[in-house]
Amino acid sequence: MRINKYLSGCGIDSRRKCEKLIIDGRVRVNGKTVTELATDIKDSDSVEVDGHLVSSAQRKIYIMLNKPKGCVCTVNDEKGRKTVLDLVKINQRIYPVGRLDYDTEGLLLLTNDGDLTNKITHPKNTVKKTYSVRVEGEPTAAELKRLRGGIEYNGVKYNGAEISVVGAENGETKLLMTITEGKNHEIKNMIESLGRRVLFLKRVAIGDLRLGGLSRGEWRYLNARETDYLKSL
Ligand code: URA
Repeated sequence: MRINKYLSGCGIDSRRKCEKLIIDGRVRVNGKTVTELATDIKDSDSVEVDGHLVSSAQRKIYIMLNKPKGCVCTVNDEKGRKTVLDLVKINQRIYPVGRLDYDTEGLLLLTNDGDLTNKITHPKNTVKKTYSVRVEGEPTAAELKRLRGGIEYNGVKYNGAEISVVGAENGETKLLMTITEGKNHEIKNMIESLGRRVLFLKRVAIGDLRLGGLSRGEWRYLNARETDYLKSL
């Protein structure tokens, strides 16, 4: 099995991030550092990351966090900012599934299951992500139609979003927007393409999985029904 697939199957990180670990020289096979992505791993091989032996028998962990504003979705932040892992302190190594911006709140999954991460974050799998969005002003029907049809903004194409208007007051409009791609700053860029600003952004669902009553900064393990659902996507 290719080394990146092996590492992600052991719950080290997503396949793409595992490739970086390999290129960075942090992976040893049978005592020798390997930086060649084409390396194949046999069952009998001994594989280490940062000097720790990797085992394919690692238990898979699935956690839902209500990410608050003011933390980043990375394992280590080079600027020393608070990360989501400062909020979920467990002994096993886990990592966030995809990203929410520093100032975005809401449903974030954390796991050590690299295959599941690929499934949820890969654009071709079109897993729906639903956001509660507060927007400056009142987007017109024509503006919403544009976003529903898909747009190009600053050279990036965004597929159409499902949008419903929840309400408008005090010069702001609350929308529910569902997207499938998860491109960088996707919701903010779509709204910005209308010449408007996002005032508040919170992810409330991934597919049928809902944030529910978790308070800001609170987390919980997913139950069996929820993990089965994610694996079925
Ligand atoms: N879209 C954004 O603009 N930001 C997020 O954090 C998530 C979706």
